[in-house]
Amino acid sequence: MGLLEGKRILVTGVLTDSSIGFSVAKIAQQEGASVVLTGFGRLSLVERIAKRLPEPAPVIELDVQNTEHLDTLADRVGQHLDGLDGVVHSIGFAPQTALGGNFLNTSWEDVATALQISTYSFKSLAVACLPLMKEGGSVVGLDFDATKAWPVYDWMGVAKAGLESCSRYLARDLGPQGIRVNLVAAGPLRTMAAKSIPGFREFEDSWPAKAPLGWDLADTVPAAKACVALLSDWFPATTGEIVHVDGGVHAMGT
Ligand SMILES: NC(=O)c1ccc[n+]([C@@H]2O[C@H](COP(=O)([O-])OP(=O)(O)OC[C@H]3O[C@@H](n4cnc5c(N)ncnc54)[C@H](O)[C@@H]3O)[C@@H](O)[C@H]2O)c1
Repeated sequence: MGLLEGKRILVTGVLTDSSIGFSVAKIAQQEGASVVLTGFGRLSLVERIAKRLPEPAPVIELDVQNTEHLDTLADRVGQHLDGLDGVVHSIGFAPQTALGGNFLNTSWEDVATALQISTYSFKSLAVACLPLMKEGGSVVGLDFDATKAWPVYDWMGVAKAGLESCSRYLARDLGPQGIRVNLVAAGPLRTMAAKSIPGFREFEDSWPAKAPLGWDLADTVPAAKACVALLSDWFPATTGEIVHVDGGVHAMGT
């Protein structure tokens, strides 16, 4: 029996096979789940990547800035699955002006885009999936430790601080429906989202040296395994939590 035997899981944020979402979908299937993916923008690329999973997964279009996509999401997922036991939010974006050391000059419009896609969408996605989660379930999001100001991460750091707070409020409001809401705070990983951060190298150089367990920037499996564990029945009384999967960096002094 796999950890997710019989569970129905929606995984967002798959863009390439280096996406954290791809590893989550792969391990979830290996652990027995039925998986549906959502894709943004380059759908044909996501469909090609979906075929590399152990079981080719259906791909549904979702732009979290598009109200119609959100309003119809439950119906469209419902064409593939008769309900959902878990939802994975693996979505983040900030305009270039909001990253890379330009913190003092970023316009509100660009900050607003970062917050809508990276923070508010955690709530939008969870609420859009509620009609399919009548028996309770688990919502998991991907975080980057927002308790500190990092080099170059700038407004994305503010968006992640908002995500951490959003997760706690969602945990409060969805708990009575039997829905747990948790985050996995991953260390830096070489995905498309990370490559688009000017100066990401600063993390690449320092993280493996600071991590007591060491850290492999190319390995999305540890973060994905934590997501799968939180989707499973093995954290039945855990919500509003942040699980750090960062080699231990968050716990160290500098
Ligand atoms: N890579 C890292 O170092 C790292 C570390 C900690 C947390 N994270 C978080 O993990 C999550 C997944 O990122 P990743 O690193 O796998 O990179 P990725 O580029 O593979 O995934 C980001 C995803 O966000 C999606 N997206 C962007 N705008 C969207 C929109 N408007 N609507 C719907 N989807 C949209 C993209 O299509 C893409 O699939 C993000 O929340 C990211 O902040 C990443």
